[in-house]
Amino acid sequence: MPSIKGKRVLVTGGAGFIGSHLCDALLEKGAEKVICVDNFFLGKTENICKAMEHENFVLYRDDVRHFGVMQSIIEKEKVEVVFNMATIALNYSFFNPFDAYMVNVEIANTLLELLKTGAYKTLIHTSSSEAYGTAQYSPMDENHPTDPTTPYAAGKAAADLMVHSFYKVLGLDIAIVRPFNNYGPRQNAEGSLAAIIPATARRIKEGAMPIVEGDGEQTRDFIFVGDTVRALILAYEKESSRGEIINLGSGKDISINRLLQGICDYYGYSGDWEHRPARTSDVRKLCADAKKARELLGFEPEVEFEEGIRITLDWYKDFS
Ligand SMILES: NC(=O)c1ccc[n+]([C@@H]2O[C@H](COP(=O)([O-])OP(=O)(O)OC[C@H]3O[C@@H](n4cnc5c(N)ncnc54)[C@H](O)[C@@H]3O)[C@@H](O)[C@H]2O)c1
Repeated sequence: MPSIKGKRVLVTGGAGFIGSHLCDALLEKGAEKVICVDNFFLGKTENICKAMEHENFVLYRDDVRHFGVMQSIIEKEKVEVVFNMATIALNYSFFNPFDAYMVNVEIANTLLELLKTGAYKTLIHTSSSEAYGTAQYSPMDENHPTDPTTPYAAGKAAADLMVHSFYKVLGLDIAIVRPFNNYGPRQNAEGSLAAIIPATARRIKEGAMPIVEGDGEQTRDFIFVGDTVRALILAYEKESSRGEIINLGSGKDISINRLLQGICDYYGYSGDWEHRPARTSDVRKLCADAKKARELLGFEPEVEFEEGIRITLDWYKDFS
């Protein structure tokens, strides 16, 4: 069984939300070197300030789509494992659908070409539950059809097909993980690409009303970022993951109304909510069947939603 300890690990999108927590965890687990490549489209240096103090961490401000750039970084740093976390957030689909789609495909293309040439040994590729689209049955196992409703999700689904087919044809050392909705400290809170939890926290703190889109009864399966990061590392260390697509979720779905109420309760906010029309292409229901992750990785989420949301909102207390 391979261990992350002593390995030279590259994290694409390592200055983003999940990627930065992954960098911290890899350093804690004794990776020999953690190489973060991020073009700072949405990444932030604050996210990696702890990692940057570590002697085994190095940052490249570069674009993962570029083959030549990645080839030279991987060669120079003698990379053994790549965790592919880089993407552009789902909401970008509504502003620039072509790039929201293509970035996922082009990044997978570059990483696969380099894997095929033997530039590094193992790719842990991150998909998204959005690739499934709205649940046709629930909970959703990995055999659930993919029917993406946004260009972002279509790009994720296309990249997954590409990565999986390369595994089948070339027998490359690959695993695909499919996280459901992540939350926790460091999730983007700014602008039109902000995630719902930090965006709502910010609005309440600034004296604005929380916003609910549609009837608020759409559901998501929320998983705490620390749990996802643990599962990502297990996906590398447990070779039973190879060639598989593995859901990472809690197996419980929560409505957006319930989520918003939880945030309001935390801040003692009892005012009105602003109601807006449902977003076009919004997925109605997402809930993971988490059995495969349990069986192949021995993975169980440890942080219950009530605890996770408290940790998250405590963290956002200090940010301005
Ligand atoms: N956050 C979630 O709820 C969630 C759910 C399912 C799957 N995922 C997947 O997990 C991964 C990480 O998501 P996240 O929430 O941390 O997103 P994020 O936006 O916080 O992080 C992505 C990072 O990728 C970087 N990036 C974008 N394009 C790049 C490029 N061409 N070259 C280099 N860097 C680039 C961004 O600057 C950012 O730092 C993504 O693959 C995403 O699809 C996330």
